[in-house]
Parts: sequence; C-alpha cells; structure tokens
Amino acid sequence: MAKKEEKTMDKIVSLCKRRGFIYPTSEIYGGLANSYDYGPMGAELLRNIRNLWWREFVNKRQDMVGIDSQIMLHPKTWLASGHVGSFNDPMVEDKKTHKRYRADHLIEEFIEGKEEFKDLVVEDLDIKEMTDFIKKYELKSPDGNEITQPKAFNLLFETAIGSVSGEKAKVYLRGETAQGIFTNFKQVLDSNRVKLPFGVGQIGKSFRNEITTGQFVFRTLEFEQAEIEYFFNPDETDWKKLFKSWQDSMWKFITEILGVKEKNLRWRRHTDKERSHYSKDTYDLDYNYPFGWKELWGIAYRTDYDLKQHVEYSKENLTYTDPKTNKKFVPHVIEPAVGVNRMFLMTLVDGFFEDKENDRIVLKLDKKLAPYKLAVFPLLKNKPELVEKAKEVYDELKESYVCDFDSNGNVGKRYRRQDEIGTPYCVTIDFDSLEDGKVTVRDRDTMEQKRVEIGKLEAYFLEEFEK
Ligand code: GLY
Repeated sequence: MAKKEEKTMDKIVSLCKRRGFIYPTSEIYGGLANSYDYGPMGAELLRNIRNLWWREFVNKRQDMVGIDSQIMLHPKTWLASGHVGSFNDPMVEDKKTHKRYRADHLIEEFIEGKEEFKDLVVEDLDIKEMTDFIKKYELKSPDGNEITQPKAFNLLFETAIGSVSGEKAKVYLRGETAQGIFTNFKQVLDSNRVKLPFGVGQIGKSFRNEITTGQFVFRTLEFEQAEIEYFFNPDETDWKKLFKSWQDSMWKFITEILGVKEKNLRWRRHTDKERSHYSKDTYDLDYNYPFGWKELWGIAYRTDYDLKQHVEYSKENLTYTDPKTNKKFVPHVIEPAVGVNRMFLMTLVDGFFEDKENDRIVLKLDKKLAPYKLAVFPLLKNKPELVEKAKEVYDELKESYVCDFDSNGNVGKRYRRQDEIGTPYCVTIDFDSLEDGKVTVRDRDTMEQKRVEIGKLEAYFLEEFEK
C-alpha cells in the first residue's frame, strides 16, 4: 500500500474508533483476527444501508420477494452447491512463525509495480502454477521466512449440532446466503403468487474461514451479504439483456441511492479461469478503496446449476410449470450479490473529507445514510431555560428524524463531532430563540447558518431532505 493511501485508511480507521462506528471485536481480550463490532454510529449506518437495499430491491419491485433463512442449513446443501468440494483459498504457511497467508495475495504483493508481470492475472493461476511461481521467484513470508507449498484450504466453517442417538452431526455455517434461497425455491413458488421472471432477496450473515488479514471491514470472517437470485425462463428471457439491466440497477443504487462518486466505480469481467464453478459469466462492480480497486458487488449468471444440483441431492422436484404452455423446466438465475460491510466501508471512504481550510474532518455521507439526521443543541448547558427549550425541539423532531441531543462542551466542538459522524444539520437554541422563536440551523457541508422558526422546522427539513 502506498504511503498516502495508508494514511487515508489509518485516518478512517481512527475516526471509526473515535466516533463509535467500528471497534475491534473482543478488544478487552486482545481482539479476534479479522473481526469487528459496529458501535452506535456504525450500527445506524449499517442499518440505513440494509434498509435502503431492501426497500429498493424488495419492497419497490413487484417482481421481487424477500426471505430470511437460517445460518445453519442441512449439510447436504453444501455438498450439492459444490462448496464442500471447491470453495477453497490457496494457503501457505510461514515455516518459522506458522502464520498462514494466501498464496495469491503474496504473489500480488510481489508483482505490484513490476513491469515484467504487468500482464499476469493472479486470479487465473491454479495451485500448481502458484507453486511454480513461488519456487521460481523464491517468495518469502512478510516476516522474510521460507513458506510451504500452497494448498487448498476450504473456507466453510464447520460446527456440530446436538446429539442424534449420541452422534454428533456436522453442519456448516453458511458460506453464502444464496443457498437458503435455492433450497426455499419450491416453498416460495408454492406459497406466493410469483411468476417468472421473479427474484428472491435476502440479507444476512455469512461466514468464511479466510486466512488473510488486514483491509479492515473489507474482508472479515463473519460478514453480511445482500443477495438476489433472479429466476427466469432462458427460452423467453434473453439472459444478456437481463444481466445488463441488473448491472444498471446496481450502478444506480450505488450512485443515486448511496450517493457514491461514479469516478470511484468500474466494471471488471472475470476471466474464464477466475470464474466460480457455478457461473457462466461474472462481472464485479469494483470500488476504488484506499488499498486499490476491489470487488464491491458481483453479478453472476449461475444458469440452472444450483437448482439442478439440489434436485439431484434432494430428489425433490424443483421445476417451474409455465402457466401458458404447461411446460416444466428448471429456471435459470442471475445473481447480484453484494457485501453490506463493503458498502459500509465504501460510504465512509467516499464521504471522508479533510476540510483543511476550516480545520475539520467531515463525513459527507448522503443524507439518507447519516446515522443522525439532526443534532439539537442548547447554546449553553448550564442555562436551564435553553436546555428546556432545546429538549422541547428535540422531542418534536425525534418523532420524524433520528436525532442527537448534545449539550457537552462548546458549540464549536459539538459541530466538529457532528461533522465527523456525518450529521447533515445541527439545530442550536440560543437566547434569541427564547424571544423570537427561531433557531440556528447549520449545514454540515457548507457550514452556512440560517434562522428558522421552530414551528416551521418540520417543513424546512422535509424540503431539505428531499433535495
Ligand atoms: N453468492 C455469491 C457469493 O457469495 O459471492
């Protein structure tokens, strides 16, 4: 990582901790590798992202429904899906420290900026090719020690459920939420008035026993996915057109709903070798994080692979009957799958702004995303008449907006804190307010201040939040 980029990431990590967005998991016990908890501000931001996604892709579409399946599914699910067999990372071990690393990541770091490797696509290398590369260029661990040969390391987390006749039953924590959709396909079909083409969305935790470390909440052992399986009849729907229309919806969601800058986004098509075992075509919508362009949101044409696999393993009939022709067939599927935590980190990176002129850091989050929409302050905390009036205003506004109430420190400090957590507007009650019934409304981005009548605040914000 270049120095400047490290600095930006360090500043974001520090802001997250300072202002209650993200804490290292189990910090009092020294932390847990690749795991983070979301603090009060983080929980709000995460919830806002989730809710916007659900509203846009489930509630606002007639052709979509949502489900919420379990984290532990029948273990056969993962045999059928192919995850037990091929959901692997290439792992190497430092022979001295026994720390584990991803072979592809070590190779990526080694080739970075070297002209002779400019055409090498690391994602295309198989285990044998990685072994040869490591040998040829004598790659070492980050601690400078010899490393073992790469070997496939399965990413599924195993656990066991209670005892059945004294026998422990092995189950897996889900490696993707998608399988809960495929295994409920028949149930959704039988209990809802859905007709092809239609989609099923789900948001929930998934788990991957990743070897890699770093990159903050970009890659964690436990993470949240928002996935859609969009089922269609390939004889009636042109998959390429459908694929493109989903790409457009994804782009629109990120730029228009989450307000992220287009210049920080790009599409990248997976190479044939890189594509997952189930996919016929895959694109990644990449975001330009401080540590480089990385996958934010993938879209894959999974064909009828998953449903057919579940037919084979469950012996259930997972066909759809065309209401016009009575023809039975297994539908095909297009899958837009995004990591909620990656969207979270993207919004922080995209909104992070060092306003040197005004000596402040501002999180220019889209208003829809801001953890607090408004903050209400009495100018002075030791003047009961101001505090009382400010409480009145706060009680009124909190019915419509997620609001903060802050009377600590001086107003300048309170503004700085609200700027750093991305609160779009601050409302200050001063001595004049007691006389003229007006308050000062201060805009996060422009720092402009306006006097607005208390009775007109609701209407004022209604208009401001519409902009
Ligand atoms: N379902 C696609 C993924 O988990 O990446």
